[in-house]
Amino acid sequence: MINDLWYKNAVIYCLSVETFMDANGDGVGDFQGLMRRLDYLAGLGVTALWLMPFQRSPGRDDGYDVSDYYAVDPRYGTLGDFVEFTHAAKQRGLRVLIDLVVNHTSDQHPWFQSARQDPASPYRDWYVWSDKKPKNADKGMVFPGVQETTWTWDDKAGAFYFHRFYDFQPDLNTANPLVQAEILKIMGFWIQLGVSGFRMDAAPFVISAKGPDVGDEPALDYDMLRTFREFLQWRQGDAIVLCEANVLPDTDMDYFGDDGERMQMMFNFQVNQNLFYALASADTRPLAKALKATAKKSSTGQWGMFLRNHDELDLGRLADDQRQTVFQAFGPDPGMQLYDRGIRRRLAPMLEGGQRRLELAYSLLFTMPGTPVIRYGDEIGMGDDLSLPERNCARTPMQWSGEPQGGFTKSDKPVLPVIADGPYGFGHVNAAEQRRQPGSLLNWTERIIRMRKEVPEIGWGTFEVLRLRDPAVLAVRYAWRRNHVLCVHNLSHAPREVSIDVGLGDEDGRLLVNLLGDEHSRADERGRHTLLLEAYGYRWYRIGGLDYLLRRSEI
Ligand code: GLC
Repeated sequence: MINDLWYKNAVIYCLSVETFMDANGDGVGDFQGLMRRLDYLAGLGVTALWLMPFQRSPGRDDGYDVSDYYAVDPRYGTLGDFVEFTHAAKQRGLRVLIDLVVNHTSDQHPWFQSARQDPASPYRDWYVWSDKKPKNADKGMVFPGVQETTWTWDDKAGAFYFHRFYDFQPDLNTANPLVQAEILKIMGFWIQLGVSGFRMDAAPFVISAKGPDVGDEPALDYDMLRTFREFLQWRQGDAIVLCEANVLPDTDMDYFGDDGERMQMMFNFQVNQNLFYALASADTRPLAKALKATAKKSSTGQWGMFLRNHDELDLGRLADDQRQTVFQAFGPDPGMQLYDRGIRRRLAPMLEGGQRRLELAYSLLFTMPGTPVIRYGDEIGMGDDLSLPERNCARTPMQWSGEPQGGFTKSDKPVLPVIADGPYGFGHVNAAEQRRQPGSLLNWTERIIRMRKEVPEIGWGTFEVLRLRDPAVLAVRYAWRRNHVLCVHNLSHAPREVSIDVGLGDEDGRLLVNLLGDEHSRADERGRHTLLLEAYGYRWYRIGGLDYLLRRSEI
């Protein structure tokens, strides 16, 4: 059995087939289109793709409302196209992860249709019902302001059904062994078609107790995660689950499992929120704290690190004043905010487009101790369209060129409007043009990905946040197999000088070899390095300077 921990040092690129590339000219992205862009993705250097849901769906929550888990939505292609795609990705060394949305189905799913029509339906117990409206029906909504309740009356069923998300997304009764068996079957199906794993949507809700009598703090069946993992590993040793779980650090190990017997990967929401606070305030201390709080993981576990994703930037775990600081800096208008807790914009407009600051943000992301997950369009600094509702503003089609519709489609009716006007319009921001400019964000991203792959210490090693006097500067030292790397970031808009003792105490610490430029650093007689970082400056150094490959061969 292959048990390769490939995800420890991967670079994951997330995209939606629907808005990536349309090959047949109907305005909707498709697998044929995505296939034509695989060389672009391989060239960028990413090693794995995460596809948002593409299964058959009425599309009321951008595919997160699945009506058939075993079919490709016809708008995107066929199962045949999907297999061609996974094959073509494999040929280029790209792994494929797909969303696994099994907390709920669409209300159009035949299981729900059968369940609601007849109390004797074999699918009745696949969902969660109540005769009376439960007391906490107006609590626990995931989309406050848009969603009013978590229990909705269904006339046909003659009962209320539970839905953690929108009312058209009835929750599956995941405690039902038949539902659990079906989830395994779904995983087994897609594994067979060539995927390397799943991003498990809404994982804490999948394993949560559900029902009318469940209180505000439902019990969680973490062991369910072990059964998912075991099944996957038995089927295909290198397949993984990447959990979407926005939880507090003290439950992280419940998800990873003390012996790594549960999920291989989790998104690090704690670091994500504090990273945005650090960018907004130039105070890196809470970020350092979040890094320490989430330092523990199982030996085979790994964090998925990210900046923005397809949802709102959820700031719900920050203290109120911290959240206000981020709102003020990056989303001051109420129209930029969402669900009382987050910001719905894309990264570039939040950071006001300056490439220097975007580079800083991405350099930080790529040096967070984990596996970076980037989002389509961010490599060229795409903007958002705040006239679109909720999270759609940051889901506009990829801007490939200066041609009509940004080269996304030949149709004049794209599935979501392409950003055409203003500084982020496709005339200014597109992949074709950035490809030709050596200093573009696209080419910078390609170079930083190449370097990230050459610094496996970040993904594999242990790390330590070095103590500095200046809270605007974050210095992290990584260690793996007797190799050491130091990354330093200045989050301030002003230049900063810092004095650093890399803390290795031997000859090694005297030389810092700059991996991104040619100004190296030699320690003074006290063994300290004085580094001058320009506004939003960042440095990656190999401590001691020996190439890790040389070092490895010594071991
Ligand atoms: C997750 C997804 C989000 C979706 C929700 C319901 O939070 O990231 O996009 O709306 O689950 O499936």
